[in-house]
Amino acid sequence: MKNKLSVVIAGGGSTYTPEIILMLLDNLDRLPLRKIKLYDDDEARQNKVAKACGILINEKDPTIEYVATTDPEEAYTDVDFCLAHIRVGKLPMRELDEKIPLKHGCVGQETCGPGGIAYGMRSIGGVLENIDYMEKYSPHCWMLNYSNPASIVAEATRRLRPNSRVINICDMPIGMEHSIADIVGVSSRKDLDIRYYGLNHFGWYTSIKDKSGKELLPELIEHMKKYGFINGEKGMATENKDSWFETNLFAKHLVAIEPTTIPNTYLKYYLYPDYVVEHTNPNYTRANEVIDGRETEVFSACAEIQKNGHSKGTKLAVGIHAEFIVDLATALAFNTKERMLLIVENKGAIQNFPDDAMVEIPCIVGKDGYEPLAIGAIPAFQKGLMEQQVAVEKLVVEAWIEQSYQKLWQALTLSQTVPSATVAKQLLDDLMEANKGYWPELH
Ligand code: NAD
Ligand code: LMR
Repeated sequence: MKNKLSVVIAGGGSTYTPEIILMLLDNLDRLPLRKIKLYDDDEARQNKVAKACGILINEKDPTIEYVATTDPEEAYTDVDFCLAHIRVGKLPMRELDEKIPLKHGCVGQETCGPGGIAYGMRSIGGVLENIDYMEKYSPHCWMLNYSNPASIVAEATRRLRPNSRVINICDMPIGMEHSIADIVGVSSRKDLDIRYYGLNHFGWYTSIKDKSGKELLPELIEHMKKYGFINGEKGMATENKDSWFETNLFAKHLVAIEPTTIPNTYLKYYLYPDYVVEHTNPNYTRANEVIDGRETEVFSACAEIQKNGHSKGTKLAVGIHAEFIVDLATALAFNTKERMLLIVENKGAIQNFPDDAMVEIPCIVGKDGYEPLAIGAIPAFQKGLMEQQVAVEKLVVEAWIEQSYQKLWQALTLSQTVPSATVAKQLLDDLMEANKGYWPELH
């Protein structure tokens, strides 16, 4: 019989926590659990989901011990995995990450451009604090970190906690692979063998094969030139044309400029920032959509479960995107040697790219961690874009470490989404003011 494991979810008050709990409970056969803990530094927020999560766990398997706590020692003692999804500053700060850049005519997005830089400056300290708790109370534990902005956080862990058992991962490729599987008519994304390289929220698929080994890339590129990631006329007919629909459709413009690969949809922020700004409502951004949508729905579903004392009829559902977390934990715990996209130090994997860049590439995961696959040399267009973006991320981390205004100004100036050093400086001054108490003080 497999050993039963203990996990802590850091950022327990996240709107993603209930769906991750449901995902864990749905996979107990491959990842058996003896303990699930929630940890957050905001008790009131965590309490919005904590009771309901306890009820869900008890209904599925009452032998699983459950604790929701704000005490780091209680949270991090006797745990094998920490699933980390914290948002330092929470959604109100995300709203400012999005709205302040838009005031300056720049992309306002939680991970890309100035908003991502501001969020990175907040996230680094929170993630490091959680790594330190983990190492103090459970030194053998692995942290599976998907706190954003993942690239900046990953660079900070490389610089500041190089020997820690932290694996940085993102669900975005999973979402794209679900769309790809739908488009090519394959029942599961797991029936696709993919090659991909890039940075987080900044990469390209170079091969997508079905299980017979047939290359599907040319057919997909033709599809994407017309529909992006939307599933043809059937997909176009949907009533729900939300911001994700627009983003998925817009991917056709990303293929237009680079027609030999399948792009990550986030590249729209770097390649078409003018279009994005023109088509964003500066008074109602993605943060508002999330607050009025997912946050309201999840918290009210949890309140309902708490009131009823059971989950019958609940709208809460297993998060299919969260499946990658179970895959990763299972690979580490039981040596499955699964191939997964992780954000890791390049160290020669991309041949013509710096060794010390944090890149997103396929890795084989087993009980000793991960082994990156060799990618080879990449073309000038992708290489140029990636080098510029890596420099931005490195400068942000250096600015955080050295408390350097100058380096953060350089980071913003270098971002493909910011038109000049003048705008970068105005942005920096506004973001710094809004992030007082969250960023280290810059000199
Ligand atoms: P949220 O604001 O709903 O929840 C985040 C929680 O983190 C809050 O309850 C907050 O109190 C807590 N928190 C903040 N600082 C903390 C600290 N130092 N220690 C412990 N807890 C802390 O946020 P959300 O929208 O659910 O997103 C959570 C995180 O997951 C974000 O970083 C988001 O960008 C990220 N995310 C990642 C992926 C991915 O796959 N990479 C996908 C979606 C969301
Ligand atoms: C998005 O904007 O949808 C993503 O960044 C994830 C989220 O928080 O909703």
